[in-house]
Amino acid sequence: MRIVMVGSGYVGLVSGACFADFGHEVVCVDKAEDKIEALKNGVIPIFEPGLDQLVENNVEAGRLSFTTELAGPVSEADVVFIAVGTPSRRGDGHADLGYVHAAAAEIAAAVKGFTVVVTKSTVPVGTGDEVERIIRETNPGADVAVVSNPEFLREGAAIEDFKRPDRIVVGLSDERARAVMTEVYRPLYLNQSPLLFTSRRTSELIKYAANAFLAMKITFINEVADLCEKVGADVQDVSRGIGLDGRIGSKFLHAGPGYGGSCFPKDTLALAKTAQDYDSPVRLIETTIAINDNRKRAMGRKVIAAAGGDVRGKKIAVFGLTFKPNTDDMRDSPSIAIVQALKDSGAIVSGYDPEGMENARQMMEIDFATSPYKAAEGADVAVLVTEWNAFRALDLNRLKSVMNSPVLVDLRNVYRAAEVEAHGFAYHGVGKAV
Ligand code: UDX
Repeated sequence: MRIVMVGSGYVGLVSGACFADFGHEVVCVDKAEDKIEALKNGVIPIFEPGLDQLVENNVEAGRLSFTTELAGPVSEADVVFIAVGTPSRRGDGHADLGYVHAAAAEIAAAVKGFTVVVTKSTVPVGTGDEVERIIRETNPGADVAVVSNPEFLREGAAIEDFKRPDRIVVGLSDERARAVMTEVYRPLYLNQSPLLFTSRRTSELIKYAANAFLAMKITFINEVADLCEKVGADVQDVSRGIGLDGRIGSKFLHAGPGYGGSCFPKDTLALAKTAQDYDSPVRLIETTIAINDNRKRAMGRKVIAAAGGDVRGKKIAVFGLTFKPNTDDMRDSPSIAIVQALKDSGAIVSGYDPEGMENARQMMEIDFATSPYKAAEGADVAVLVTEWNAFRALDLNRLKSVMNSPVLVDLRNVYRAAEVEAHGFAYHGVGKAV
């Protein structure tokens, strides 16, 4: 299959590289000339484990290429994926579909012969209809089928998620498009990944419903964690105890500082707005959003309490700045609100992150250190915000020796209290009896 991927951001680049690895001929298009130039030179603009190798292999094999020119590749394509950004619209939380609509118009002007146009970007219900309308208006003679095919990959595990998905969701009504999409995903289908065909609107909603449910699941366990602290229970045992119930499942039950990232905050908000527009509010999700927003700030207060209630002039070391490990992505990371709360209360903040410091510099003014131990020099409290492997086996003796006072706030429950306390630290986890 000849595939064009419009948008070479996270989803576009990973999907494009994986499709090429399946044996398809893939052209990734992006308007950002510097990005395309970098990709042509083998420089990957994002940090994603394994992606550089996958891109290199497939470029070498002649199956993957990059360009800023959309028209040529689209005119020869069997399938064109739209994987451009859908940020939250300033002010109202709705998804901003400007890039999707612009891509649709450009694709319409360039298509030749039967072409399947697929939205992979996370888009609100009805966007497929709009894309189809734009294409028909721009090029009334175009022979296209518009399909929805949301992507469920997680940052940091994107290639594995793409190649071994729990399911592939495809929303369409055109039989020719169904045959093309089956071919596109044949290698996964042979791997027995379920291919679920639905209507386009259903497919669009599945993506939002999945992300909202996961955000709600995390938020649920975060509230239970707060309750655990009050009643003297342990949230990790509660998670295990409920997660072993097959109806609940053990995944996404890790209590922490609140969810962040490029998807959950944006998609929950967009779903809530869409639901309000249709006069069918999703109150659980509205509440989830509010609880999660509050939680990030509350984590700042938790750190301040661990420091004795007053952090004026005290130094706080933050371990991990990205919203999760194995990414350099800082979008909506809990660290942003936590650092802000600490600074607002007069603390001096230092931080270290294995991959995220370049992006973090755009978002916060703190002392960036070259290691967790450097960050902790003279600190009154160390806060573990992101569970990078680099923080899982810290040399606690060394850490204690460089700190002003040995206090560890572990917002990911990476450590066991007894182990840390045995090294002379005061330890504060999340959802642990205090
Ligand atoms: C998410 C979805 O998982 C993915 O299917 C979708 O395509 C995009 O959004 P991603 O944002 O990359 O992926 O990361 P994910 O691993 O889902 O984590 C999201 C946030 O939830 C992170 O801040 C993470 O720390 C937090 N989280 C996750 C928890 O706090 N507890 C958990 O148990 C799981």
